[in-house]
Amino acid sequence: MGRIILTGDRPTGKLHLGHYVGSLRNRVIIQNTWEYDRMFVFIADVQALTDNADNPEKVRQNIIEVALDYLSCGLDPSKVTIFIQSMIPELHEMTQFFSNLVTVQRLQRNPTVKSEMAQRGFHDGAEDDNRRGLPVGFFTYPISQAADICAFKSTTVPVGADQEPMLEQCREIVRSFNTTYAPVLVEPEIYLPANMVCRRLPGTDGKAKMSKSLGNCIYLSDDPKEMEAKVKSMFTDPGHLRVEDPGKVEGNCVFTYLDAFVEPGDFEKFWPDYASLDEVKDHYRRGGLGDMKCKKFLISVLHDRLQPIRERRHFWEQDIPGVYEILRKGSEAAREVAAATLHEMKDAMKINYFDDAALIAEQAAAYKA
Ligand code: TRP
Repeated sequence: MGRIILTGDRPTGKLHLGHYVGSLRNRVIIQNTWEYDRMFVFIADVQALTDNADNPEKVRQNIIEVALDYLSCGLDPSKVTIFIQSMIPELHEMTQFFSNLVTVQRLQRNPTVKSEMAQRGFHDGAEDDNRRGLPVGFFTYPISQAADICAFKSTTVPVGADQEPMLEQCREIVRSFNTTYAPVLVEPEIYLPANMVCRRLPGTDGKAKMSKSLGNCIYLSDDPKEMEAKVKSMFTDPGHLRVEDPGKVEGNCVFTYLDAFVEPGDFEKFWPDYASLDEVKDHYRRGGLGDMKCKKFLISVLHDRLQPIRERRHFWEQDIPGVYEILRKGSEAAREVAAATLHEMKDAMKINYFDDAALIAEQAAAYKA
């Protein structure tokens, strides 16, 4: 069997450069250059609700933002099935069956869930203290995510490095299902960007990864002025006070972003004084190269990458009903695939009673007076 690619995003906000270098850019490359049987990209609204139960409006408004970001990055609905998670009710049945194969203890070890719990102030201690309790749906979302992946028999999941624990958990579920019932499910692999800096792009403040809740994002949909202002105020090397001072490249956001975005032709086009990023880094380390020059180069490079994305976004923004139509068609097509897998799962679990002529005949014979 060939490759089946699947990935998705929670619709809790617009997508940013971290999403872009971590996964979106790869998806478009995969779409256009890989051999695969099928590719699915979906908007994980059910998962978004696991920690936004009180704010369905946020999820509702962000479906279109994420869909626009997908289309503007170059995902092509004629090649990729784009769909909305909640439109596939089969996923919930699968989640239920999978949840019997996973222990509470195993879920508690999932490091991504642990750090997300800490971020959101969810805690799983005694009921009687005043902290926020842990929603069951949130705690078990790795199981639901395994259903997302398994429903399409995905082999390859392009996501950020923080999703590796989810993939590990999914593979365990697949093995457990296949040995307990019958080998119908497929173990997926994560697909990460080769370039290490792309796996976890820091925010413009140089702190943790780029994330909406930290307010350190450059969004794909930022206009050129917003993007420029954010780059200009970016964290660099706090020890690099005067241009002549030697500067540090490690931990310097501008260089991290250059590592993530620069392509071979960029120097010739935007900064012919240098032939490669290594030359720029050497000069910066020696001293004599100012932050602003580096930032200007980064701005040119980002403009060049983002401009086609902005143009495509503008095009699709003028056809919102058309975008929903793409999602509707994609959801219908995806549902057929998920329903077929669920059918196989139920056969394997032998809970297909009405189709089980042998069972009915055997019991009929046993009870015959
Ligand atoms: N957990 C992913 C995120 O936070 C979204 C997601 C849900 C996903 N289900 C998935 C990603 C299945 C890949 C495969 O971005």
